[in-house]
Amino acid sequence: MSADAAAKAKAKAEPSPDTVTVKDSASGKAFDLPLHHGTLGPSVIDIRKLYTDTGMFTYDPAFMSTASCESKITYIDGEQGILLYRGYPIEELAEKSTFLEVAYLLLNGELPKPAELSDFTTKITRHTMLHEQLARLYQGFRRDAHPMAVMVGVVGAMSAFYSDETHGQDPEQRIGAAHRIIAKVPTIAAMAYKYSIGQPFVYPRNDLTFAENFLHMMFSVPAEEYRVNPLLARAIDDIFILHADHEQNASTSTVRLAGSSGANPFACIAAGIACLWGPAHGGANEAVINMLKEIGDKSRIPEFIKRAKDKDDPFRLMGFGHRVYKNFDPRAAVLRRHAHDVLHELGIEHEPLLELALELERIALEDPYFVERRLYPNVDFYSGIILRAMGFPPSLFTVIFAVARTVGWCAQWVEMISDPSQKIGRPRQLYTGSPKRPYVPLARR
Ligand code: CMC
Repeated sequence: MSADAAAKAKAKAEPSPDTVTVKDSASGKAFDLPLHHGTLGPSVIDIRKLYTDTGMFTYDPAFMSTASCESKITYIDGEQGILLYRGYPIEELAEKSTFLEVAYLLLNGELPKPAELSDFTTKITRHTMLHEQLARLYQGFRRDAHPMAVMVGVVGAMSAFYSDETHGQDPEQRIGAAHRIIAKVPTIAAMAYKYSIGQPFVYPRNDLTFAENFLHMMFSVPAEEYRVNPLLARAIDDIFILHADHEQNASTSTVRLAGSSGANPFACIAAGIACLWGPAHGGANEAVINMLKEIGDKSRIPEFIKRAKDKDDPFRLMGFGHRVYKNFDPRAAVLRRHAHDVLHELGIEHEPLLELALELERIALEDPYFVERRLYPNVDFYSGIILRAMGFPPSLFTVIFAVARTVGWCAQWVEMISDPSQKIGRPRQLYTGSPKRPYVPLARR
């Protein structure tokens, strides 16, 4: 064998490191699949041509091993408990940055220079008011409607007010839509709350920061002056920063999939809000407080721990566990510290429900079931505690998550739409239903 032929044979036997070979044992045929390497994280096997080449699909129903897209926005290492926005560690951003600076970073890829931040802040601040007809839409909801239902409805209705942004073909129009929704979503959220308690809507104030303005619209009333507590404004700003993005989670994937058809951006964000609402996702922070209320007393914790372990009982310990974080949730670590500061500032460190939460955390962290499965308190466990202490009703917790995550949804939507190779998302399936059969007339069934 010539040296050239030997080299070729060797190359065939040992595929290049940038491909992975899969073998169909039925036909004996082997297929080389390209391997792509990111800057961080696991490499991905490119299966886009798998169906054309082999006639087979891959099967990964809950996306346990599937990278659905390429992205430069957020990186998570679940084993190490690392979360980076555009390369910057979340802990540093929470300590040193502000939510609007983080929003700029997520949308544009770089931290803003002073003039850029000032321009961005002005743009967001100037878009905080709602169209008065949108404000009237609230009257159509029942007073006891869940605020997340109201959010889905009102944010979705924005698509009827800004329908020119349907296709997002123009980059400027795209970013304009993002600014508009980021600016208005706190106003929509605060109005949902005010409507639910029968108080008048409080209009935004341009002299306040994003976080301060949100607290003002939530808690002030026309009858008296409201002063924003700076520690609480900082805590809510940090909650916004920590929830701003989380790569391809369920709601973000929903926004991307909805947007992949070219749908109106506001309608896509409404789809993301709907997905976030579920108790396995953003709804967990509300579920934490409901669970603590149900437990009621420290003496009943063992009973609930037992239920959480019982496979025949659907009960799960809310605020524990995460699909990606298997050591600790870095967002939870930041909020845990805040929780203590906020409780101290408000003088409610000894509130029974909060004491119960801390006792539950202690017991679960020592219990072999939770330790073996690497189920740690997640961000929702502590955000629920802080938000409750600050006076937010539990039904508003997921709404606050949505206010923050709107930035991530917009950044991910803009990234997807800006990609020239972007196509409509269209998963396939493993069909296990009936084979083809003839229609049976009603009388013969
Ligand atoms: N309580 C009791 N057992 C649990 C829990 C829990 N909270 N979470 C997971 N497990 C068990 C589960 O039963 C399974 O046990 P086994 O291996 O014996 O069958 C094992 O741990 C692995 O669970 P999984 O369901 O395969 O894990 P997953 O990655 O599909 O689910 C999760 C992740 C977050 C949905 C889940 O841990 C959960 O339901 N947690 C409670 C809800 C919650 O706090 N959600 C907020 C997530 S963080 C915010 C966000 O990103 O939206």
